Amino acid sequence: MAENNKTAKLSFDGKELELPMLSPTAGPDVIDIRKLYAQGDVFTYDPGFTSTAATDSSITFIDGDKGELLHRGYPIDQLAEKSHFLEVCYLLLYGDLPSAEQLEDFESRVTNHTMLHEQMVYFYRGFRRDAHPMAIMVGVVGAMSAFYHDSTDINDPWQREVASIRLIAKMPTIAAWAYKFSIGQPFVYPRNDLDYASNFLRMCFAVPAEEYEVNPILSRAMDRIFTLHADHEQNASTSTVRLASSSGANPFACIAAGIACLWGPAHGGANQACLEMLREIGTPDRIPEFIARAKDKDDPFRLMGFGHRVYKNFDPRARVMKKSADEVLDLLGIDNNPTLQVAKELEKIAIEDPYFAERKLYPNVDFYSGIILDAMGFPTSMFTPIFSLARTVGWISQWKEMIADPTMKIGRPRQLYIGAPMRDYVDVEDR
Ligand code: CMC
Repeated sequence: MAENNKTAKLSFDGKELELPMLSPTAGPDVIDIRKLYAQGDVFTYDPGFTSTAATDSSITFIDGDKGELLHRGYPIDQLAEKSHFLEVCYLLLYGDLPSAEQLEDFESRVTNHTMLHEQMVYFYRGFRRDAHPMAIMVGVVGAMSAFYHDSTDINDPWQREVASIRLIAKMPTIAAWAYKFSIGQPFVYPRNDLDYASNFLRMCFAVPAEEYEVNPILSRAMDRIFTLHADHEQNASTSTVRLASSSGANPFACIAAGIACLWGPAHGGANQACLEMLREIGTPDRIPEFIARAKDKDDPFRLMGFGHRVYKNFDPRARVMKKSADEVLDLLGIDNNPTLQVAKELEKIAIEDPYFAERKLYPNVDFYSGIILDAMGFPTSMFTPIFSLARTVGWISQWKEMIADPTMKIGRPRQLYIGAPMRDYVDVEDR
């Protein structure tokens, strides 16, 4: 963030304040209101943070009007095509693409932390048999602070590093076991000779009674889904992780808070909700009925997988995901997938409809991801756990950036109080 010589003038109640402005390396300038309350005795009001930069960050940049997403400056479509998930993890965590040697070392560190503490098996067994895998994820990741005490001191850079590697490495095992538990199958232990995505697929779909070969097409598609979800700037779950960590809470507790936030259907839960919606629509002839419902202000229904707070153009991740859905279904020999047909037709009709055009509502990352995950054999309940597995690196990178910042303060928003003014207590017999 660079100070510039611009200022903003604010006049109210006969006062005039001059506020400094800051320039980012990309994106709009910001008005620095940090001293506003001290100097002007007023707050700003911005529920939902629609115009508020809550932090500075050098990790991810989104240009919502252009539909552009950059990680450390690199466009997401180039990363999805040319890179792979663990390399993107390194980029997000450390700021630059690794050399071959750095990448090998990083992959080896992640690979050697994939197992869970064996006592965690008993922890899993405490959940109800039909628990949603996201409920298990929130619990198990939070419980890591009870199993890995030696990496909870946030003031120790080495412990922060170990916690980061542990979270990235163990998340596939945690998510796969949440799935196995929910379907009553034995846990499959990680195998360190497999790459990150293949290992996850094997832990989800192998059973001890049979040999299991990971399909390389599925493994590549899985890795691309992880890459496309790796980070997304100051979204709701990332901001949750930052806010939780600002109090000094340990990283496992903070990532559990992020998972809880991601679960909601307006955020990561949209991928499950979207596939369920596409299935409910069923055939293209029913699309107008659902479009009409989405436009009806008296109906709470929204087109899931459509719209975004920041993108007012195509979500660049949705473009890659759509192409990937075509490729995966084609390579798997799945012709005329009815859900994909409905999705494509729905996209066409919605973006030509004035309601969606005026509000700049386009497909987001969740619109096509469920179709690929479904073709791979995942039930809808696993879609959001997969999102949280992939987003873990983004949460950790943002957490590390925040903790290392010497100017970091506890997050403590103010409010516009609209409740009762002070009044005297009335004894119960007099009410
Ligand atoms: N279907 C129908 N109308 C919509 C939709 C939608 N999916 N999204 C927004 N609108 C309308 C909304 O009714 C409002 O209309 P009006 O101005 O007439 O009142 C206008 O568009 C602006 O909506 P908003 O709710 O003020 O926008 P927001 O920035 O607060 O919400 C959103 C963004 C993503 C929560 C919202 O678009 C939505 O609920 N989408 C469906 C859920 C979804 O797909 N979420 C995944 C987001 S991408 C992955 C992730 O980040 O987790």
